Amino acid sequence: MAGPTPKSDASERSPLLSPAKGADDNATTGQVKKAARWVTRNAVIVFMSALILGVVITLCLFFGSQPKKSGSQSDTESTHSSFSPAQLVQSLSSVDQQNFDKLKDAYSACMDEVTVKKAGIRPLGGILRQVAEMAKSDDSSTISDTVLFLHKLGVTALLSLGASADDKDPDTVVVVASPPYRIGLPAKDYYSDDAVVKKYEAATAAVIDLLHPSNQTEKFAHDLVEFEKKLAAASPDAEDRDDVTKYYNPMSLQNADKLTPEIHLASLIGRLEPADVKTERIIVMSPSYMANLTDILSETSKETLQTYFVWKTIQAFASYVEADELKPYKRFLNELQGKEADSAPERWRTCVANVDEDLGWILSRFFVEKAFSKDAKVFGDQVVSDIKDQFIEKLKVTTWMDKSVIKLAIDKVHKIVQKIGYPTKSPDIMDPPSLQQYYSSVNITPTTFFENTLSVSRFDVARGWSALGKPVDRDEWGMTVPTVNAYYNPPGNEIVFPAGIMQFPVFDVNVPQYLSYGAFGSVSGHELSHAFDSTGRHYDQNGNYTDWWTNSTVDAFKERAECFVDQYSQFSVPGPDDKPLHVNGRLTLGENIADAGGVTAAFAAWKKRQAETPNQDLPGLEHFSQEQLFFVGYAGWWCGKSRKETAISRIYSDPHAPKWARILGTMANSRDFKESFKCASKEPII
Ligand SMILES: *[C@@H]1O[C@H](CO)[C@@H](O)[C@H](O)[C@H]1NC(C)=O
Ligand SMILES: *[C@@H]1O[C@H](CO)[C@@H](O)[C@H](O)[C@H]1NC(C)=O
Ligand SMILES: *[C@@H]1O[C@H](CO)[C@@H](O)[C@H](O)[C@H]1NC(C)=O
Ligand SMILES: *[C@@H]1O[C@H](CO)[C@@H](O)[C@H](O)[C@H]1NC(C)=O
Repeated sequence: MAGPTPKSDASERSPLLSPAKGADDNATTGQVKKAARWVTRNAVIVFMSALILGVVITLCLFFGSQPKKSGSQSDTESTHSSFSPAQLVQSLSSVDQQNFDKLKDAYSACMDEVTVKKAGIRPLGGILRQVAEMAKSDDSSTISDTVLFLHKLGVTALLSLGASADDKDPDTVVVVASPPYRIGLPAKDYYSDDAVVKKYEAATAAVIDLLHPSNQTEKFAHDLVEFEKKLAAASPDAEDRDDVTKYYNPMSLQNADKLTPEIHLASLIGRLEPADVKTERIIVMSPSYMANLTDILSETSKETLQTYFVWKTIQAFASYVEADELKPYKRFLNELQGKEADSAPERWRTCVANVDEDLGWILSRFFVEKAFSKDAKVFGDQVVSDIKDQFIEKLKVTTWMDKSVIKLAIDKVHKIVQKIGYPTKSPDIMDPPSLQQYYSSVNITPTTFFENTLSVSRFDVARGWSALGKPVDRDEWGMTVPTVNAYYNPPGNEIVFPAGIMQFPVFDVNVPQYLSYGAFGSVSGHELSHAFDSTGRHYDQNGNYTDWWTNSTVDAFKERAECFVDQYSQFSVPGPDDKPLHVNGRLTLGENIADAGGVTAAFAAWKKRQAETPNQDLPGLEHFSQEQLFFVGYAGWWCGKSRKETAISRIYSDPHAPKWARILGTMANSRDFKESFKCASKEPII
């Protein structure tokens, strides 16, 4: 953003979505996709890591034999409720116990690989047969019926449908139709990589042949991939799909329906909306995709479409099934990420992620008990408030914004809602009965992993649609509490920091403050900056997508933003052919602006605190000044390593630059860094 530094900058399109999820990119399931969609549409995420280390530790403790006395600080510090995991057996209220048992059953079902393997393809096979049967019908509503059937299971085919806050009326829930986030391969760019496409087709053919042997398998797979190529070509580029100025296309349902005659959008939505709601207006995120879809469908055979629907179902559920039939596909996914073909994460990692997806708020409740103290909450609030104050100070002296814009911008900062730690509404995770109620329609047993997943998918889809006709629930959180991430949600004008990111070494009440301000403070500043980056700047203090910037301020912003585009476009990673694959300076623009604004605001906030209360030095690291350690803390948090293939995949679709570039680019732009390390020559660009 622009906001915080007097001469910083930013520009025009931005990203939002963060597809990159740590280790299990291929574990996309209905729910994951749904969550990703929510966040995609609503939030500018800051971090992309999804390590759930804290949860992992917590769960090891829970699901291991006995809660061990670990002497960890939080055992004693938990003051949120009478419940403490240390006294699990003795003191659980019965509802709390029932919630916990549900969580434990979900985890056990996932961990029971023997049962999962024994079930093999069978649980999925039943659904595949239904889909194949349905898609074969000659009825004119076949496509629509199949899309609906899959949608209700959380499977996206041909288009994605959902309900979320209307950007231009942020308290109202509106129906949104968009191209699928992912057509088949993890990013659109892969469809122009012939080597990858060839392997994908071979994997598809192998799976189809194992499921349904015939002498036509290769043709089916080929036609399927050609069809997906066309859909991919018609889809928006990553850098455009989350640009509100491009995707915000309100339309009458009637007109949207005409745009997609084979899908019968009006009838689809009519069958999904609550009985007392009559949708009349929807947002069509890419009318040109919808128009092209119509043409593409008209030249596609019924067999190809049938293969496509079946294939989407397989892709959506592959990670919930252990069966030889799916191995060629799983091998392909591993290879695409540069992993050993038959490798798999340790099962408990998968299962921890799984309970987070399925029963995330129950998990959150116990995570807070274990890993988040009242002091942490108070300190977190302090850091975020400090950063807000610094933002306002910086805005006051910003020279490139018009006075009128600065005034509104300051008002916007004042109005930013800060959600820190964990939700106490929608649902109140500290209230066992509301948690129980929230998940009452989810059926979980310890031996039915696949069916548990289906139950959760159906629940998520139904919950999404039930929001229609009611005001937007501004108390909801888009990330569960153990999540190591944070986000800014433009229509909500809110920043959200789950307790998962408020953990050592990013954040700790008991370490010198330059470390927490350097890492967590910069994260907070980053999120706040999103309120004024290439996306956030379009939304006013109420979260309304309006034109509140003057033309001269917009021009000044764009000019500065171009510097970021140029700067980050110079970074590259080795590409598929080992030629440099450059960072997409436009796709990553919003995040890069936010990084610059974040570290600047955090540094100023820390300096102010430090002037009041001196910090201690770190024993053994006295040769660094505290200013330098602030930046060491910042950079340490971005240390990471990725495989060549994963790095490529992220360049295609991640709105964040590679981690190392986030350090180098941000430090190169920071006057405070330059001064702290007494860098000699070059002028920082901002
Ligand atoms: C595939 O096998 C069927 C018989 O099962 C035969 O009628 C058909 O001609 C074969 N098609 C091709 C392309 O070989
Ligand atoms: C999609 O449709 C638009 C017009 O609506 C057209 O300009 C464009 O070329 C089409 N793209 C593809 C890939 O068919
Ligand atoms: C949002 O902005 C539109 C104009 O773009 C205006 O008509 C509407 O009243 C605003 N709504 C809110 C809640 O501010
Ligand atoms: C601002 O720019 C837009 C288009 O760039 C133009 O339509 C509008 O008239 C301009 N407004 C002013 C006040 O100059």
